[in-house]
Amino acid sequence: MNWDWFIDKFQRISDIDLSAYKRPQMERRINSFMRQAGANDYASFIKLLEADKQVYRRFIEHLTINVSEFFRNPRHWDVLQHQIFNRLIKNRLALKVWSAGCSTGEEPYSLAIMLNEMIPGKFRKILATDIDREVLEKAKAGLFSARAVQGVPEPLLKKYFHHDGEGFRVRDKLKSLITFQRHDLLKDRYPLDMDLILCRNVVIYFTEEAKEKLYGRFADSLRPGGVLFVGSTEQIFKAGELGLKSVSTFFYEKA
Ligand SMILES: C[S@@+](CC[C@H](N)C(=O)[O-])C[C@H]1O[C@@H](n2cnc3c(N)ncnc32)[C@H](O)[C@@H]1O
Repeated sequence: MNWDWFIDKFQRISDIDLSAYKRPQMERRINSFMRQAGANDYASFIKLLEADKQVYRRFIEHLTINVSEFFRNPRHWDVLQHQIFNRLIKNRLALKVWSAGCSTGEEPYSLAIMLNEMIPGKFRKILATDIDREVLEKAKAGLFSARAVQGVPEPLLKKYFHHDGEGFRVRDKLKSLITFQRHDLLKDRYPLDMDLILCRNVVIYFTEEAKEKLYGRFADSLRPGGVLFVGSTEQIFKAGELGLKSVSTFFYEKA
């Protein structure tokens, strides 16, 4: 059984379309996981994934790589705070914001904290989506280790979290600012009229074709003047063709 057979079978059991992800990287990751799990070929690996929920879960985690951080790349968050928000809030009563590929919630919680500090009451519930249901459950639970919240300044940590066992749990007030939802960026419909979209460290494993399609769809999802905030290795080369213009490194405004 070859690669095409595997991605077709895998799509049936997981609803994840691996053909949109870069093949060499994916193939390497999948083959190494498969061997470690004790399967010698794709057919026995698929059987194993169907039979063993734990292996299946570990495999999804291995594939989707959901590492995240609060205020990841702090300098980019400074740009968001000091340069981008002022432009966005002009002539808008309440910002519509989307964290796409939000993983375990560090990104939308960081956003919610920043927005609540800067423009309380002037933003709608933040939409936070991911393809992986389990990371969304973790995000909703809102429990983070002391190490995970290192990027949150002390006064904000006190204000938005409380101690829970060894870790920190987000306060309900903060959680209430966010709606977590399952959403596949390759398949599902995008919301409209968005002021700000964060899609960071998600497309790294996508093919160029899938990336371009995605950025086009983000451009359609933004209102004119809305901004797309991307990850630190993710410049958009054909931004102009998609109706986006760079307003600062890693920030693109819809014309
Ligand atoms: C490395 S995390 C990024 C988390 C956060 N945006 C950040 O920068 O810290 C990548 C996330 O993208 C999600 N993802 C991968 N493919 C996706 C897809 N097709 N649709 C939606 N989310 C996807 C993964 O499940 C994972 O949680």
